[in-house]
Amino acid sequence: MSRKFFLLKNLRKGNSKFPENYFPKKFLRKGCGVLKIIVGISGASGAIMGCEFLKALREHGGIETHLIVTEGAATTFKHETNLNPDDVKKFADEVYRNRDMSAKIASGSFRTDGLVIIPCSMKTVAGIASGFAENLLLRAADVCLKENRKIILVPREMPLSPLHLRNLKTVADFGCAIIPPVLTFYNHADTVEKQIQHIIGKIFSQLGLEYKNFVAWQS
Ligand SMILES: Cc1cc2nc3c(=O)[nH]c(=O)nc-3n(C[C@H](O)[C@H](O)[C@H](O)COP(=O)(O)O)c2cc1C
Repeated sequence: MSRKFFLLKNLRKGNSKFPENYFPKKFLRKGCGVLKIIVGISGASGAIMGCEFLKALREHGGIETHLIVTEGAATTFKHETNLNPDDVKKFADEVYRNRDMSAKIASGSFRTDGLVIIPCSMKTVAGIASGFAENLLLRAADVCLKENRKIILVPREMPLSPLHLRNLKTVADFGCAIIPPVLTFYNHADTVEKQIQHIIGKIFSQLGLEYKNFVAWQS
């Protein structure tokens, strides 16, 4: 069995407990990742969650990331953080403009293991729900849906209107995993950083990956 196949099989089984440095550097070069994940950061509040998620994927190793930062997210980064989108893009293997409808991730023939949108605005949820693929992020979601690939959304709005809830129900019915960034209390996550780590842990779990900073419920 080839090394790449072995790693892929184990990652898919949710067994990513490889010894540290197990992934040789050459294996982690651009284009050689084990999993290919598209990451979308859209203009809902909490752009920092998208940045931390990308960092966590990079730290995990063996994951090739394809990043889209929407125009809305560029605005939230400006209002909510000291980061600009370029600071975030350095944690991704490939970066695309949201207007670039000819990018490879706009096509089903470029195989990926799925899409995570964190945070996900209600506009982007609506676009996925209706198939209105007017930008690259929405097109990437449309492609993942038609190709039966995993989609994980971290939708953020407060409060949620009946329309938001209807759209979320629609995308959940299509098979999208919905991970709202809600607060956790049972693990005493007493900082924003720990709250974000909890959300990242939940996404990793959906992807069948281990996340070292996730504090699970202990009965
Ligand atoms: C500071 C700020 C916070 C925002 N927070 C949210 C939010 O939590 N949820 C949401 O759906 N939209 C939010 N918006 C509005 C979106 O950014 C806006 O609808 C945008 O068009 C979304 O487009 P996108 O999904 O392509 O990024 C916020 C906008 C700003 C400027």
